[in-house]
Amino acid sequence: MPAPAPRRLDSAAGTVYIYDEPGPACRDAADQIVACIHRAVAARGRANLGLATGGTPIPVYRRLVDRHRAGECSFAPVHTFNLDEFYPMSPCDPQSYRAYMHQRLFAPVDLPANQAHVLDGTVPEAAVAEHCAQFDRWIAEAGGLDLQLLGIGRNGHIGFNEPSELSVAEALALPTRRVPLHPMTTADAARDFGSTESVPLTALTVGVAPILAARTILVLAFGARKAEAVAGSLRGPITAACPGSLLQTVADRVVWLLDEPAAAGL
Ligand code: F6R
Repeated sequence: MPAPAPRRLDSAAGTVYIYDEPGPACRDAADQIVACIHRAVAARGRANLGLATGGTPIPVYRRLVDRHRAGECSFAPVHTFNLDEFYPMSPCDPQSYRAYMHQRLFAPVDLPANQAHVLDGTVPEAAVAEHCAQFDRWIAEAGGLDLQLLGIGRNGHIGFNEPSELSVAEALALPTRRVPLHPMTTADAARDFGSTESVPLTALTVGVAPILAARTILVLAFGARKAEAVAGSLRGPITAACPGSLLQTVADRVVWLLDEPAAAGL
């Protein structure tokens, strides 16, 4: 039986679809990514995807792999740019986002290894700023992101752009860089790392500016624990204190896929 159609809310902050369950939302997200790949490849011979890690998009990657195995989507012309990586972090560490992506998408599909970009958690401290600037140049030289897939932190972070006291103009201009992790982010990551002390203190994150420059932005949020961040992002004022609210500045390019508990505050 097909899943019931999601409820659509048209808001000035973006288009919002509310699903009964995360499963169909992830399936739709993956299908939108496949459609985006096909459109971009038809238009320009390649597709540039910004990708997220974390628990939320895992079923999206499962569906992308299924569609690849069904012969419905080749990743040969796709270039991927991941949102973030812990710092310091070896790509061989199973907690690294490079390992996460390798296991869930890069290895199972036909994505050429030299087209899968993940910020490098091993660059020496003195080279971090240049590495991050290089990542932004790679995205720009690739022609910009056709689609950015996003999750959202309980504190409203996008990528690891954490809440701050910056002005909106300063926050919108944030480039890719090294950041300290917010205590709530560390607490959430502690589940995967086994303890708070094992979570690296900092991370490398794609900045707000390159995220918002994507031609389409798909944001996924599921569960009651995301309700406050979702409400703050969609209903609250535009403020660096809730980085998700910065998405309101590009509302015509943002689609939110939520389940009912995550949408409870709307
Ligand atoms: C991950 C990322 C983060 C997560 C967010 C939600 O690459 O950039 O912003 O999307 O922390 O994480 P989950 O999905 O684990 O709740």
